[in-house]
Amino acid sequence: MASDELQVRTETVEVCDCFAPSARAVIVPGDCLETLRTLPAGCAKLVITSPPYNLGKQYESSLEFSDYFSALQPVIEELVRVVAPDGSVCWQVGNYVENGELFPLDIFYYQTFKQFHFKLRNRIIWYFGHGLHNSKRFSGRYETMLWFTKSDTYTFNLDPVRVPSKYPGKKHFKGKKHGQLSGNPLGKNPSDIWSIMVQDWETALWNIPNVKSAHPEKTIHPCQFPIELVERCVLALTNENDWVLDPFSGVGSALLAALKNNRRAIGCEKETCYLEIAKQRIADLGAGTLGYRPLGKPVLEPTRQAMNLF
Ligand SMILES: C[S@@+](CC[C@H](N)C(=O)[O-])C[C@H]1O[C@@H](n2cnc3c(N)ncnc32)[C@H](O)[C@@H]1O
Repeated sequence: MASDELQVRTETVEVCDCFAPSARAVIVPGDCLETLRTLPAGCAKLVITSPPYNLGKQYESSLEFSDYFSALQPVIEELVRVVAPDGSVCWQVGNYVENGELFPLDIFYYQTFKQFHFKLRNRIIWYFGHGLHNSKRFSGRYETMLWFTKSDTYTFNLDPVRVPSKYPGKKHFKGKKHGQLSGNPLGKNPSDIWSIMVQDWETALWNIPNVKSAHPEKTIHPCQFPIELVERCVLALTNENDWVLDPFSGVGSALLAALKNNRRAIGCEKETCYLEIAKQRIADLGAGTLGYRPLGKPVLEPTRQAMNLF
């Protein structure tokens, strides 16, 4: 990882404003549906995005739930076309609330992707410890990411995203494997719950905080992806030089996760102010001045007591 970071940091990436197979980074201004229609079929190894949630954020007007949902159907149809036959879609959403009633968006989107015969590989729960307190229901503390593949043949590289085991040196104490390490020396599978559950140091350490004011990646965008959240998917679901597409790219967090790891990146964004920040962040990445939380950075340091090392 460290050497990859150094290699990418010294490289200035030109950001094109329309797709070209030889480009490394593309951000197309305007409506993503129009852009997606121009992309070649099967070009994207990974589509990773957080679509508008219809929450009335400054970049969206709040619609009736059914209108919001139908407006995104043509976009999904185009995404289905541009995902590679061995590619993946990671669709990250929360809950939409109308008159106090909760609509878990992943339930609705699951049906849509199933209609296109996509296969769900994980429903990742991204748990965060802080947020608004509700008085008429329990406070919401998670979002989900649906990871679909287009077919049964797909890339899944587990080793680059393993996290440290709880007891890395633990050995089999009897049987044929007596004395050998019982776990994988590269670490364990990070599981399908990604959280910042600070009560439990073991799960807390290797997890992913959301981008709030003190986070080094915070920009003016109200709901950014943490770069490390996307990085885990980029490293596991793509190979070097593959294309990663975010049709709602905001300030470019998914694109940065791709470029930082020697993948190619395409984004679409309708708001010029976010698009300009994305371009600046890509320039900062090239100059080695981008602020980001590295993948696998501990959220907190375990105390000796928490580690049972009295
Ligand atoms: C939930 S935010 C995604 C933020 C992004 N993940 C990041 O880290 O910056 C959704 C983004 O999609 C953009 N957007 C909404 N509708 C769009 C459309 N039809 N075409 C292109 N961009 C759109 C919004 O302006 C907003 O920046």
